[in-house]
Amino acid sequence: MCGIVGYIGKEPAAPILLGGLKRLEYRGYDSAGICVADGGQLHVAKAKGRLENLSGMTDGGRTLPGTVGIGHTRWATHGEPNDINSHPHLSEDGKIALVHNGIIENYLELREFLERKGVRFTSETDSEVVAQLLEYYYKKTDTVLGALYMVLHRIEGAYALGIVCADAPDRIYAARKDAPLLLGYGEGCNFIASDVTALVQHTREVSYMEDGEVAVVTADGITVLNAMELPVAKPRQHIDWEISAAEKGGYPHFMLKEIMEEPEAMRRAISPRIKDGRLVFDGLQLGRTELENLRNIAVIACGSSYHVGMMGKYNLESLTRIPVEVTLASEFRYCDPIVDERTLAIVISQSGETLDTMAAMREAKARGARILSIVNVVGSSIARESDDVLYTYAGPEIAVATTKAYSTQLAVLDMLGIHMADTLGLLTAERYDALVCALQRLPEQLDAVLADCENIKHFASQYFNHDSVFFIGRNLDYALGLEGSLKLKEISYIHSEAYASGELKHGTISLIEPGTLVVALGTYAPLFDKAMSNVVEVKARGASVLALTTAQQRGQMEKTADAVMTVPDTEPMFLPSLGVVPLQLFAYYVALQRGCDIDKPRNLAKSVTVE
Ligand code: F6R
Repeated sequence: MCGIVGYIGKEPAAPILLGGLKRLEYRGYDSAGICVADGGQLHVAKAKGRLENLSGMTDGGRTLPGTVGIGHTRWATHGEPNDINSHPHLSEDGKIALVHNGIIENYLELREFLERKGVRFTSETDSEVVAQLLEYYYKKTDTVLGALYMVLHRIEGAYALGIVCADAPDRIYAARKDAPLLLGYGEGCNFIASDVTALVQHTREVSYMEDGEVAVVTADGITVLNAMELPVAKPRQHIDWEISAAEKGGYPHFMLKEIMEEPEAMRRAISPRIKDGRLVFDGLQLGRTELENLRNIAVIACGSSYHVGMMGKYNLESLTRIPVEVTLASEFRYCDPIVDERTLAIVISQSGETLDTMAAMREAKARGARILSIVNVVGSSIARESDDVLYTYAGPEIAVATTKAYSTQLAVLDMLGIHMADTLGLLTAERYDALVCALQRLPEQLDAVLADCENIKHFASQYFNHDSVFFIGRNLDYALGLEGSLKLKEISYIHSEAYASGELKHGTISLIEPGTLVVALGTYAPLFDKAMSNVVEVKARGASVLALTTAQQRGQMEKTADAVMTVPDTEPMFLPSLGVVPLQLFAYYVALQRGCDIDKPRNLAKSVTVE
């Protein structure tokens, strides 16, 4: 996720901006840039790659004079990571510089509008549109603030903006909607930043901007205006935690931070793809003829991404009635797969660099399959080599154990399935609307799931001492169990297995003895009664049962299970998107109790680039 920092005061701005960006590095980024205003001159420096490149290029900021500036670390979403796509972006006349965090959803339409007016763009980004639109309105209104409000009325999507203008070099403008931005109050200086980590070295007095607010920041003070352009009195907050904790945004581990980011990540994955109640996948070439021509879908992935594929088998098949086969990428290459020109290969990868997945993708391509990838890292190898890419927009994931990337992959795959079924004419208008509506509710439902985190922590403190755990479930709950079990074993080192509940009696039940912990997944309403029978079965053999079900089914589950976690009710196909979060939190808190190195579990790497 991008990071923003801005400084205005009496000191040289560039070294302070570089220091602030350094503290935002943990958010992940692929390029960085700064702009410093010096009288009526704007000096811009940008560099792909590590911050050291930018620092080296500017001699630690010393080559850029001026005491006002904005800086940015970019995590590419629109346009590959390179110097040109990096922020700050300048308007065509070079008078306005802008940094942006978020996604401007209607940027194509605005770009076309400006191009028709003769504006020439230099980058591929959605963000440059905002800089150019600002110039367009600034020329009409002659005030930056007036122009900014006009721009905010036209842009759709999420944004935190930092802006400097050569004609008003004594101020920074800031605006926010659905992307974090805060104001920092110093002595004879003031700041803007994406999060406090960038500021704690300089000030601990901050206030958080709310959606729709605009700030005008000078060295002597900060004025905040609401969407009606009326002044707002901002309460200040004192930050009292240590700088070392700030690197994780105040969280003890990246994993917990990333779990807590899931509602926001889900919003970013879903909202740009819903327009006027319809799912839209810009640029995706999968019309009715192509879909009717498909013989099968081959899902290829590793680890957690493979578990997303397992969910996909249930949901895609039931939505589209096209046969779906999910294969581990490391097996796919060597199993002589039934794949040809009539196969759609869906390749799922957070990093977009997993070697097994890449090799399997090339194998499928060589056999004639069309490649559609679901990827988080923009511009990664898998994304570049695919015929179509659907980005998940989860933002950088730093903890080795995936959490928010998994959730967004699942949401994107589900959306794709609904879109395909609709294109094939397999959904009634009512069913389509109900699914889209349920999809849109997921982010807020995730907030509700996270609010239950203390309960889950309590269950973890009860069960962390077990040596062996079984996750059981049917249908989507089985696929969910695979992920819950992987999460637990990879970070807590507890041996854990996931089974389709119906399989227990074919062997595994012999392992259940008094005290064995069974995590019973019973969210999937159509098979709830069967899930309950399996809970009774393992209870009868002395197991301790920690269950996961929905709010509606809770009462029933409580009659048998020892402890119950719940998620809100929704369309059955979306239940795993909610259900995975309690399992991630359970794994996290168990690992915490056991004193494990949660963000970097032994022997594991974030991006597996070896076979
Ligand atoms: C588990 C985990 C891994 C990855 C797997 C594939 O928490 O993160 O199992 O899912 O290594 O990685 P990507 O999705 O980057 O291809």
